[in-house]
Amino acid sequence: MILVTGGAGFIGSNFVLDWLAQSDEPVLNLDVLTYAGNLENLASLQGDARHVFVQGDICDRALIDRLLAEHRPRAIVHFAAESHVDRSIHGPGAFMRTNIEGTYTLLEAARAHWSGLDDAAKAAFRFHHVSTDEVYGSLGASDPAFTETKAFEPNSPYSASKAASDHLVRAWFHTYGLPVVTTNCSNNYGPYHFPEKLIPLMIVNALASKPLPIYGDGQNVRDWLYVCDHASAIRAVLAGGRLGETYNIGGWNEKTNLEIVHTVCDLLDELKPDAAGSYRRLITYVKDRPGHDRRYAIDARKVERELGWRPAETFETGIRKTVQWYLDHPDWVAHVQSGAYRDWVSQNYAERQAD
Ligand code: NAD
Ligand code: DAU
Repeated sequence: MILVTGGAGFIGSNFVLDWLAQSDEPVLNLDVLTYAGNLENLASLQGDARHVFVQGDICDRALIDRLLAEHRPRAIVHFAAESHVDRSIHGPGAFMRTNIEGTYTLLEAARAHWSGLDDAAKAAFRFHHVSTDEVYGSLGASDPAFTETKAFEPNSPYSASKAASDHLVRAWFHTYGLPVVTTNCSNNYGPYHFPEKLIPLMIVNALASKPLPIYGDGQNVRDWLYVCDHASAIRAVLAGGRLGETYNIGGWNEKTNLEIVHTVCDLLDELKPDAAGSYRRLITYVKDRPGHDRRYAIDARKVERELGWRPAETFETGIRKTVQWYLDHPDWVAHVQSGAYRDWVSQNYAERQAD
């Protein structure tokens, strides 16, 4: 069994679905279900004994101790976090608590559990920390892409909290010998992406004929990876990554935000034409995000060279699948927008309570 934290969020739920499609090894999914946690993402696993869901907080040491003692997972894959940069600007406190204190709590619980294992189980155990390229800071137009040796220069409360958590994970390896690996990934996109983030927000706003807000001049660059390719990279690093190492994950897909929004509009024009005209008419320039990083780009050569990992999707195939997924799942979108996904939990997951 593996313990996944944050497995009801965007990437975590895609990872859980991918894991159980590839393997019969059960998943213990610990998620407190903030606004970003949505068990509807995992509706296809209802009644599947390989998925055990526990609603609980990664800051709750007693709960984590109990889960580790009871289920004895061979690995922890740690996704749980506050993840949205704009929210971190307006309310950084939750980011400090979950991303820093939560990671610390999980590391300490993992260390106590791991130190009680026999030698073979100790050697096999892994703590996989899922992190972001945002810890590296912002690139100029002609700077080389981030490598794993790039100094950390986080600029938002979100990225600062993730950088702190990366440092904690590193320290628990060097000080206590806890067998850790860390991945720093670029911007993900795909199914089940909460529509506060750029790509799903543009899709759902366009379909509702609402403005498509572009921060600043729209020339900020992000490096995009289809979420299932992130899941396959995590599997590869968990299986073969060297202990104490960090691996950058990305698909060599740098795009300006304006290019992204144009692509989304053009796909919608093709797949769901609007009588009022091209969806591009809805593009609206708005005030920039404070401290807005100009460019991210991931150099993924280490994971490619050492582990042979490659993304399965190009940006063109992945974004088409994504837009089509949102068109095919109007109920999921409606439940997220109305908040009804939260009721779905109490109606469908009676076993969710930790205690
Ligand atoms: P998300 O916001 O969609 O999901 C986060 C999940 O964590 C939610 O299900 C939420 O309920 C849960 N959670 C939050 N606080 C918790 C707590 N205290 N205890 C237990 N569960 C808690 O985030 P995401 O986009 O899926 O990101 C997952 C991870 O991947 C994060 O660590 C993020 O930093 C990292 N990451 C994200 C991206 C991206 O593009 N989204 C890219 C690189 C790395
Ligand atoms: O790089 C990885 C990171 O990608 C992850 O660590 C974060 O968890 C994830 O949220 C994401 O952060 P970004 O800030 O890059 O994602 P976001 O979707 O919020 O914004 C992408 C770009 O689009 C960014 O330059 C800001 C811009 N933007 C965003 C929104 C929501 C807009 O122009 N308009 C918008 O309405």
